[in-house]
Amino acid sequence: MAYPISISAQSERQVKDTKSIPFGKQPTEHMFISEYKDGQWQNSRIVPFAELTMSPFALCLHYGQTVFEGMKAFHTKDGRINIFRPDKHYDRFVKSLDRMCMPEVPKSLFMEALHQLVQLDGAWIPEEADGSLYIRPFMIASEERLGVKVADEYLFMIVATPAYQYYAKPLKVKVEDTYSRAADGGTGFAKCGGNYGGAFYPTQLAREAGYDQVIWTDSKTHELIEESGTMNLMFVINGTLVTPPLSGTILDGITRDSLLAIAKDKGLQMEVRPVNVHELKQALEAGQKIEAFGAGTAAVIAPIETIAIDGKEYTCYIAEDAMMYQLQKELYDIRHGNAPDNHNWNYII
Ligand code: COI
Repeated sequence: MAYPISISAQSERQVKDTKSIPFGKQPTEHMFISEYKDGQWQNSRIVPFAELTMSPFALCLHYGQTVFEGMKAFHTKDGRINIFRPDKHYDRFVKSLDRMCMPEVPKSLFMEALHQLVQLDGAWIPEEADGSLYIRPFMIASEERLGVKVADEYLFMIVATPAYQYYAKPLKVKVEDTYSRAADGGTGFAKCGGNYGGAFYPTQLAREAGYDQVIWTDSKTHELIEESGTMNLMFVINGTLVTPPLSGTILDGITRDSLLAIAKDKGLQMEVRPVNVHELKQALEAGQKIEAFGAGTAAVIAPIETIAIDGKEYTCYIAEDAMMYQLQKELYDIRHGNAPDNHNWNYII
């Protein structure tokens, strides 16, 4: 089935210098919107970025049926635009939608909307090496109804914003041993709004105590490391790249997946296995050289300098020869067309 998309572009284009604007405050000039009604996606259009009008009864405002994705587009060295791994983002979007009882967006509609919007607003992709276009597809339940129910009407939208480094400096994090982000059987693997809303309070407490983020642990024992607020977690222990396995409580990060594939291609030692807080603590206490970093679309690779475990702070290795910087460079090179895209990750416009 074809899903026609109408385009009404701004007549005067005004791309701003966005480097000094904080992440997520500057929309590009256009947005995509499609309406799900009577079991069909319809009225799909790209229009100038504008506010939405919706009923205060809209179900998303009350019961949290919201799902989003975050992906990035880059300039390649030969002057084209590359959207990184949209297929994998689409697959994850569908899994999240399914968990939240929301209707699937056909892949052809998702890809066409993405292509058209990024092409139209491509001038907003920063030229700087640390710049990219952050693209946010999302869906919300728009049906007007106060009763608790699965909505019958939705909006699927795509918006975008120029992005630079998400974290300006290496992070100070705290291993969380009281609160939980996700529990078995819950929604931890899904990119639904509630997972983020529920994380605010413990993160706020950590901020007040001087930390940038928390490291989430399993909800039963608080002994197994899961992920951090905006990214997956990876470590280099004894020269081996280590990350916890995916589970119902961890987001299937696309950057995580890409770094694991790069590490494999490069023949680096790697292990996807549970990471116990005590193992980490013992290694840090013994003075071992441990790298710790977050991996996420917005964050890319976010080096962790300090980890607090049981109230004691430990320093991680972040010198220039750290493995995380090698992985970061390789990822950068693939995305910008400086290295071969052996996995077909790049969607070139
Ligand atoms: C992403 O990295 O795409 C995220 O969704 C994290 C954050 C911006 C909420």
